[in-house]
Amino acid sequence: MAGDIAAARERDPAARSTAEVLTCYPGLHALWAHRVAHRLYRSDRRLPARLISQVARLLTGIEIHPGARIGSGFFIDHGMGVVIGETTEIGDNVTLYQGVTLGGTGKDTGKRHPTIGTGVIVGTGARVLGPLEIGDGAKVGAGAIVIKDVPPNSTVVGNPGRPVIVDGERVASAAGPDIEHTRLPDPVAEAMACLVRRIDILEGELQAVREGREPPRRDEGEDCLASAQDELADLLADVDPSAGASDSAR
Ligand SMILES: CC(C)(COP(=O)(O)OP(=O)(O)OC[C@H]1O[C@@H](n2cnc3c(N)ncnc32)[C@H](O)[C@@H]1OP(=O)(O)O)[C@@H](O)C(=O)NCCC(=O)NCCS
Repeated sequence: MAGDIAAARERDPAARSTAEVLTCYPGLHALWAHRVAHRLYRSDRRLPARLISQVARLLTGIEIHPGARIGSGFFIDHGMGVVIGETTEIGDNVTLYQGVTLGGTGKDTGKRHPTIGTGVIVGTGARVLGPLEIGDGAKVGAGAIVIKDVPPNSTVVGNPGRPVIVDGERVASAAGPDIEHTRLPDPVAEAMACLVRRIDILEGELQAVREGREPPRRDEGEDCLASAQDELADLLADVDPSAGASDSAR
């Protein structure tokens, strides 16, 4: 019991005193009711076990099936709307927030609820569905719907839940979309910019010739005309295939 109180005090910065935790933390009350219900369940007194579970649900808004196996240092913050299914297994030092479902998909039999590793955090409103495994130290983001195993020390978010961080490293696809839509290349603008640059060079050369000077040397790679012509030919081919074909044939 002291460990349960310590878990609440460590993980909820709002917990100011042991008396407050004892009286105002429904997660703790539901957990203690579950311990009694689980003992009855294991000694095959299933109906009284369910009754205790249901009374605890009425009082706390947290439904833990008496069959669920829960490790030490378990903490449910706020609690309302949490549902934990019969074949759920929860490791040590796990934290759940309100509205979390550790449930079944409806298509499995036997072991049909998740196995949650040590030190896992499941954010508010997350649904973890099926006999899958959440690895030690993983975080499930608020609102995620997880239907596949989650590797240890990773963070999953979204629907369906996908890892965005594994072992402290951001997963490549989580860093952003493959194509930055705001930075798509614009061939027309590039060709225009090239032509403007080229006019500038030619005017400089013409001015030098007029004044009887040596025209300035062109920097290597400065002439973008060939690539601009290719870009424009491709664009024209998209708009009018016959024009593109004749251009590229030239
Ligand atoms: C997932 C969570 C644990 C953060 O984990 P983290 O390892 O610190 O990860 P980050 O904050 O670096 O986020 C990683 C990426 O996931 C995104 N992300 C974080 N939480 C998310 C969520 N719940 N849903 C969708 N995306 C989320 C971030 O925007 C970031 O995306 P980016 O890579 O495109 O920038 C946290 O956001 C969360 O959801 N915690 C639950 C807290 C909770 O339920 N509180 C209730 C209090 S009453």
